[in-house]
Amino acid sequence: MGFQGRDVISILDFTRNDLEELFEVADYYLRNRRAYTLLQDYVVALAFFEPSTRTRLSFETAAKLLGAKVIGFTSEEGTSIAKGESLADTIRMLDAYADIIVIRHRYEGTALFAAEIAEDPVINAGDGKQHHPTQAMLDLYTVRRLFGTIDGLTYAVVGDLRYGRAASSFIYGLTLFKPRKIYLVSPPLLRARPEVLETLRERGVKFEEASRVDDVIEDVDVLYVTRIQKERFPDPIEYERVKGSYRITLKLLEKGKRELKVLHPLPKVDEIEPAVDSSRYAAYFTQASFGVPVRMALLSLIAGVRP
Ligand code: NCD
Repeated sequence: MGFQGRDVISILDFTRNDLEELFEVADYYLRNRRAYTLLQDYVVALAFFEPSTRTRLSFETAAKLLGAKVIGFTSEEGTSIAKGESLADTIRMLDAYADIIVIRHRYEGTALFAAEIAEDPVINAGDGKQHHPTQAMLDLYTVRRLFGTIDGLTYAVVGDLRYGRAASSFIYGLTLFKPRKIYLVSPPLLRARPEVLETLRERGVKFEEASRVDDVIEDVDVLYVTRIQKERFPDPIEYERVKGSYRITLKLLEKGKRELKVLHPLPKVDEIEPAVDSSRYAAYFTQASFGVPVRMALLSLIAGVRP
């Protein structure tokens, strides 16, 4: 189906072929990092109703390197929603000013809602706990760059699988490929949501739920670690119960395979020991840097242009 003119709401809207095409274009931009004029007639709106460092700045960098103009805001307080305007009217304005809308919001379904209102392509940069498709794209791209393949590897997705949209989207993204196995490692309170497990079952992906990284470390190639999503807990007492319940240490990683890599969508808080950062296991800063070529590839394919 390709990307041209499409909304990007969930990674599951795309096929393996789509992603392979995206990755090839991202490879090109990674090798040829310079300023382009491909999107010079485009305005890209970055509508961030929730905090962001990497997603927003890498989208902005990507859009600017492609020659597009960038408008947007970084919090709800900066918009007329603070005066009582509806989200729908705000979206209509973004649609009028821009050509591509990138949106992040704390509520599930906001990106889809925006896509229904806007004529322009809408890219979901995170909707509550639900989806974060462009994060999954760059995460999968990172695995492909590190291992030369996404298929046949064993993955452990660790942490807040209940409220973490990056974790859920990464798991969904893996179902488009042929992972050998996925371990879902979390405290019992933060197990993956039923719809995520259902997708794994439907798509015939082998998986196992576990509570401790220690129990699975020897078997994994990719350890995808996530932060506990404190801000999404309806009950602070529940958060207190799971706070600090897992920590990835160098000692733990040394029990694993030699080629083991640790990915993390970032921000990390205390779930990875700082000593890991400078070890051969840490791939998360490289992963974050791939946000630029992958989002350049995405924006240009949506606009229907190729480098
Ligand atoms: C993630 C998010 O916002 O969902 N961050 C990101 O976009 N890289 C993960 C998180 O906040 O924990």
